[in-house]
Amino acid sequence: MIRILAIESSCDDTSAAVLEDDFLLSNLIAGQDVHRMYGGVVPELASRAHMQNIVPVVDSALKQAGVRKEELHAVAFTRGPGLLGSLLVGVSFAKAFSAALGIPMVEVNHLEAHVLSHFLRTSQYRHAPRFPFLCLLVSGGHTQILKIESPSRFRILGSTLDDAAGECIDKAAKIMGLPYPGGPVIDRLAKEGDPEAFKIARPRIAGLDYSFSGLKTSFLYLVRDRLAADPGFIEKNLNNLCASVQKALVDSLMEKLVKSSLQTGIKQVAIAGGVSANSLLRKEMEAGQEKYGWEAFIPPFSFTTDNAAMVGIAGLFKFRNGDFCDLSVVPYARAKGQRQAIP
Ligand code: KG4
Ligand code: ZN
Repeated sequence: MIRILAIESSCDDTSAAVLEDDFLLSNLIAGQDVHRMYGGVVPELASRAHMQNIVPVVDSALKQAGVRKEELHAVAFTRGPGLLGSLLVGVSFAKAFSAALGIPMVEVNHLEAHVLSHFLRTSQYRHAPRFPFLCLLVSGGHTQILKIESPSRFRILGSTLDDAAGECIDKAAKIMGLPYPGGPVIDRLAKEGDPEAFKIARPRIAGLDYSFSGLKTSFLYLVRDRLAADPGFIEKNLNNLCASVQKALVDSLMEKLVKSSLQTGIKQVAIAGGVSANSLLRKEMEAGQEKYGWEAFIPPFSFTTDNAAMVGIAGLFKFRNGDFCDLSVVPYARAKGQRQAIP
């Protein structure tokens, strides 16, 4: 049996988790409210908050798991992609922890971790996909359709050519004057709205790629033009605006996912990443079981947005392969160039 402490600090959540093999014992997340008033994550403030949060979060994760640090076999951490200053806090903590305890370190790619969260087990959740399966990875920074052949073999079938889905929904929220992050706020307000109330341009991109810049611009122009005629337009139509933009986004996400399933013949279909918390996307995935004969994998809410549990399970797969790193490891901010995010 392998006990892993996992650390996630790639953006604005400081998280620590403890796993016993694939079973999750604890998963603590300290969010950072400090960014709300700025309408987005301020990297410098995020690094400072990670510094303040990391020790108490790890301490609480161990306590909640009922595990002493001497009982751990490894420490897994997010190496990238993400904000460099934020990553540095987690990477440096992992190095100190591993050196002090004399246990190995496992570096994890944040995007792979989102996908592999489907292999976590809890007392309520133990439903893992079989290989190969498709995964729509939708977060604040990435939108990709992946074919997952094994825990370490990911093939990209389609990607966004511009904005990520989460970025698009956060920008739509900003246009309406809603707080950051906009995804959960739009999701909530959309529940009381009519998704057909406003016409928003759907992207028309060939193949399995995505593009959200047209959708975003179409929404921006709609709001700008109607606001010019009626300064109270947003307040009067907030629910309908949220429902319409959410529907346009989810429709385009689903269209390419369905196409990927038809092209590959794969019917095990998963979603992962922050936007997979979206209630309409989850409903459409559920409906896909009946409509397309899918076996749909929808993660529990706590595994959708950034968390260390997913880093722990990705770390476990690498641990089992003896894939460790040493103290010379440095974080990477970007997926491309220095290192390909998804090989
Ligand atoms: O995976 P994540 O926590 O961080 C990144 O790795 O980027 O994803 C954050 C994104 C944000 O854009 C946020 O607005 C979006 O996920 N999000 C949602 C919902 N909850 C979070 N988008 C739509 N509906 C939601 N319920
Ligand atoms: Zn993420």
